[in-house]
Amino acid sequence: MKLFDVYPLFDIEIAKGIGCRTYDKEGIEYLDLYGGHAVISIGHSHPFYVQKLTQQLESLVFYSNSVINNLQTELAKKLGKISGYDDYSLFLLSTGAEANENALKLASFHTGRKKVVSFSNSFHGRTSAAVRVTDNAKIVAPINEGFEVEFIELNDIESVRKSLAKGDVCAVIIEGIQGIGGIHIPEPSFLEALQEVCDATGTVLILDEIQSGYGRSGKFFAHQYTNVKPDIITVAKGMGNGFPIGGVLIHPKFKATYGLLGTTFGGSHLACSAALAVLDIIKAEHLIENAQKVGAFLFDELKKLPKIKEVRGVGLMIGIEFFEPAKPIRDALLFEKHIFTGASGSHTIRLLPPLSLSKSDAELFIKRLKEIL
Ligand SMILES: Cc1ncc(COP(=O)(O)O)c(C=O)c1O
Repeated sequence: MKLFDVYPLFDIEIAKGIGCRTYDKEGIEYLDLYGGHAVISIGHSHPFYVQKLTQQLESLVFYSNSVINNLQTELAKKLGKISGYDDYSLFLLSTGAEANENALKLASFHTGRKKVVSFSNSFHGRTSAAVRVTDNAKIVAPINEGFEVEFIELNDIESVRKSLAKGDVCAVIIEGIQGIGGIHIPEPSFLEALQEVCDATGTVLILDEIQSGYGRSGKFFAHQYTNVKPDIITVAKGMGNGFPIGGVLIHPKFKATYGLLGTTFGGSHLACSAALAVLDIIKAEHLIENAQKVGAFLFDELKKLPKIKEVRGVGLMIGIEFFEPAKPIRDALLFEKHIFTGASGSHTIRLLPPLSLSKSDAELFIKRLKEIL
């Protein structure tokens, strides 16, 4: 059997990772400013994380959601505390798309409605409802076109008001910071007005913090730069530092009933140990503060460089838009300078490094990028 060929691959095989560095099978070292697509939050092979996962592996990997799993309870407590959402409930699953799928489902159960408002350039995953609310027609199959969606320009509150006025929208879904769309931050006043309109029309506000959450923005959630408290928040990516785990944080007004939601793998013992280790390390090593500090340094230094049209983002979620196509620059960074970065569209490079990135590694990146430009 061969692999179903859907990923355009770099001709590099990564065999090892330590902190903010990865190594290919020939032993060549790469600075990782991509974090395997915003997944590596605490750094590769963190010793505490490895120890916790190893211990769990030796005792119990998985048992079903039909028995008590205290690791889930402990995770909900820790996540509630660190995020400031103590009074919310947590539903665990394995991926970001699943988190959004269940968030949308919950909104529809709760309101009895099925229309959704989403935003231009958004990305929310590839499962049925999640991809339907993603603004990329190329990845929406006919079978996914099951309910009405209106895509509105980011920050256009008047169009949202008009759309919600009819009272038939179950949810508005929005990324804390648009990631795949090229690092666009919703204006704080827009997010706050969005919450007001949602509250006034009985519409559920879902904040997709799958890429922008877990400290990446320099706050636990990107929307915490505003006064917004969403009805539902979705998380994944950095939550397990590479071990698949996602979550839905749910406002107390939503009533849980047996069988309403469910999953086989979500919240397994091994997944919860990974997520608990991640939160412990984020706290002990002050990684959110580090993301804020090193991100601000990178931001300021990038703004001084030539050929750059715009630098966007906050914390360690940065988009660098060039006047020229970004691919040759990204390739030179990878193949000549051995630095991994992400892409977005034709002209933007995305930086999504581990939250433990040091100032000296940020300086090294600036130096290498200058050499290329
Ligand atoms: C904002 C956002 N939402 C949802 C997803 C989907 O997550 P997953 O690929 O884990 O299903 C992604 C993935 O890139 C994302 O960036």
